[in-house]
Amino acid sequence: MKFFVDTADIDAIAELNDLGMVDGVTTNPSLILKSGRDILEVTKEICDLVDGPVSAEVVALEADEMIAEGRKLAEIAENITVKVPLTWAGLKACKVLSGEGRMVNVTLCFSANQALLAAKAGATFISPFIGRLDDLNLDGMDLIADIRTIYDNYGYETEILAASIRSVNHMKDAALIGADVATAPPGVIKSMASHVLTDKGLEAFLKDWEKTGQKIL
Ligand code: E4P
Repeated sequence: MKFFVDTADIDAIAELNDLGMVDGVTTNPSLILKSGRDILEVTKEICDLVDGPVSAEVVALEADEMIAEGRKLAEIAENITVKVPLTWAGLKACKVLSGEGRMVNVTLCFSANQALLAAKAGATFISPFIGRLDDLNLDGMDLIADIRTIYDNYGYETEILAASIRSVNHMKDAALIGADVATAPPGVIKSMASHVLTDKGLEAFLKDWEKTGQKIL
């Protein structure tokens, strides 16, 4: 499973990228607000840092305007993925932009039928939002599983990008189901390395090592 980082925080992206943990980046208007940076500037910096796809989201509601915004965002760098919302206008924009050979990420997907439409419109990525479904006491992972089945049934090449990830269990479950990509905040990716038994075991080993009175360096 590919890892995208869901942030516009350059330092956080750089830290994970140095470890080879970053296959791409996703941003959205809320993350741009959080960064306090200009969208064009910060997105360019991210694209310079990361080799993989970097999603930058349009904010227009009409298809023509979305297409114009998408073309402008795509000028930032070759690895830009234009992110459009899963509305009828967004699907139109997806069809046009993907027809021009641009990568398109269709976001704010909350149903399998929406995902089916995005695949037919030529989306490179579909972003089902797991956490926001869980917040409503629905099961976001069921949606990932349904989309996996549907895409496999018909051989759609659109990649399933599990989004709105809130926990390490989301990462594991998305990988078990076979999501192509998971986009997660840096903190969630770093937490995947933590285990209480690792900490406990390390503490015990170090205590015993001290008793040996030896040194390696
Ligand atoms: C994905 O591309 C979105 O930016 C993101 O995953 C949304 O997550 P949230 O529901 O935690 O805001």
